Amino acid sequence: MLWIPPRSVFQNLGTHLILCFLCGMMSADPTTETVIGLMTKYPLIDGHNDLALKMRILYNNQLSQVDLRSINKVATDINRLKTGHVGAQVFAAYVLCASQKKDAVRLTLEQIDLIRRMCTEHPDLELVTSAKGLNSTKKIACLISIEGGHSIDSSLPTLRMFYQLGVRSMALTHTCNTPWAESSSTIYDVYQRENDSLTDFGKDVVKEMNRLGMIVDLSHSSWSTARAVLQVSKAPVIFSHSSAHSVCNHSRNVPDDLLHKLKEKRGLIMVNMHSKFVACQHQADVSTVADHFTHLRKVIGAESIGVGGDFDGAVEFPLGLEDVSKYPTLIQELVKRNWTEKELSGVLRLNFLRVFEEVEKERDRLKGTLPSEAQIPLAKVENPCRLVLRHPNKQDPQFSRDKSDFVAPMCLVWRIIVTLIPCFLLIQ
Ligand SMILES: *[C@@H]1O[C@H](CO)[C@@H](O)[C@H](O)[C@H]1NC(C)=O
Ligand SMILES: *[C@@H]1O[C@H](CO)[C@@H](O)[C@H](O)[C@H]1NC(C)=O
Ligand SMILES: *[C@@H]1O[C@H](CO)[C@@H](O)[C@H](O)[C@H]1NC(C)=O
Ligand SMILES: *[C@@H]1O[C@H](CO)[C@@H](O)[C@H](O)[C@H]1NC(C)=O
Ligand SMILES: [Zn+2]
Repeated sequence: MLWIPPRSVFQNLGTHLILCFLCGMMSADPTTETVIGLMTKYPLIDGHNDLALKMRILYNNQLSQVDLRSINKVATDINRLKTGHVGAQVFAAYVLCASQKKDAVRLTLEQIDLIRRMCTEHPDLELVTSAKGLNSTKKIACLISIEGGHSIDSSLPTLRMFYQLGVRSMALTHTCNTPWAESSSTIYDVYQRENDSLTDFGKDVVKEMNRLGMIVDLSHSSWSTARAVLQVSKAPVIFSHSSAHSVCNHSRNVPDDLLHKLKEKRGLIMVNMHSKFVACQHQADVSTVADHFTHLRKVIGAESIGVGGDFDGAVEFPLGLEDVSKYPTLIQELVKRNWTEKELSGVLRLNFLRVFEEVEKERDRLKGTLPSEAQIPLAKVENPCRLVLRHPNKQDPQFSRDKSDFVAPMCLVWRIIVTLIPCFLLIQ
């Protein structure tokens, strides 16, 4: 039987609702509604996230052990992406610099596999590989990026195969130099050189990325490398997770003169939230992060700014911005500072979409250009146990097979042992 509530219940309920509504109006911050409306209309595209690395560290990449909707030990999961109004996340297939000259390519492949699995097996996520795909999905879009040129082991065919697997951006370095590009960091003492921050092969990498339609990411590169890339690249480039050097003078941040060049190239700086880059110290708050936005807007305009949180990569985040669910707090601070809807729609979403589209347009313009067959001189990637399947380049005075064996005695010893083992087996 249907229970029909007496009239008075409705009346009381109505009064309560009105009272609640009024007290809600009085206590709630008037900007909250604006922010949620804005972020619903323009879901955030976040330029950088290291959840994939955390998956390796914490779960050995065993996705079956994890409920992606809610993960305690990290700053990123689907529930919090939704609360944060994140509409798209660029996930880094990052492998540590220590893997350079070792198994960087294999490890990168495994991280790509992980991100692909995350984004194709879970119903709330969708792997996208084009601006159109990114703009049209109703799910949380995932993009794959590579963080550090060591991942391609100085090989353009490897770069192309990563593109085939869905990778749509690559940072040229992480904290180590590569044989062809220079890092902003000097903690790894590898591939040091002077006045050659982007070698001829480095230029070939940038051109091949233009041809493929892969976004060049300058976060982690040295300023001198960044300047060289800005001259070579035909398409806009990004800093996927860097902040303003004038506000905090960390070498990972971008100085004003470089910002001007970035703007000329129609590029984008996506602001990093890491306290150390934002405040140059361990503690920061939302206001300090907003100071970076204010400065960047003053120097290059809101249309050159985006957001690249660096959650699960960096270790310390500002008070109130501890994980991906907190992005509305940041946007609220910008609304309070009178940023307009037009400016914020760009920062949240449209600026990145524009850059991605322009990168694709350059790719389309280059249609018909053949894949680059440029190869780095072998001498520059000398590595004792690298198997060289082609004749060494006789034109290259620094390299000859004999010299390579000679400078790598351990490898020579190894080859002798490998040759002798079958003999021992035969004797026994
Ligand atoms: C994204 O989609 C919206 C709505 O469908 C459309 O108006 C807009 O032009 C699209 N933008 C891009 C960059 O594709
Ligand atoms: C590098 O450039 C600096 C300044 O332009 C110059 O003084 C120096 O000699 C150069 N070094 C090399 C190895 O070319
Ligand atoms: C950065 O700025 C601080 C003070 O703002 C100054 O003490 C320090 O020397 C600067 N560091 C560099 C590398 O310019
Ligand atoms: C924002 O605009 C209001 C009204 O125009 C003004 O009173 C306030 O000072 C402005 N705030 C900032 C941070 O510019
Ligand atoms: Zn990084």
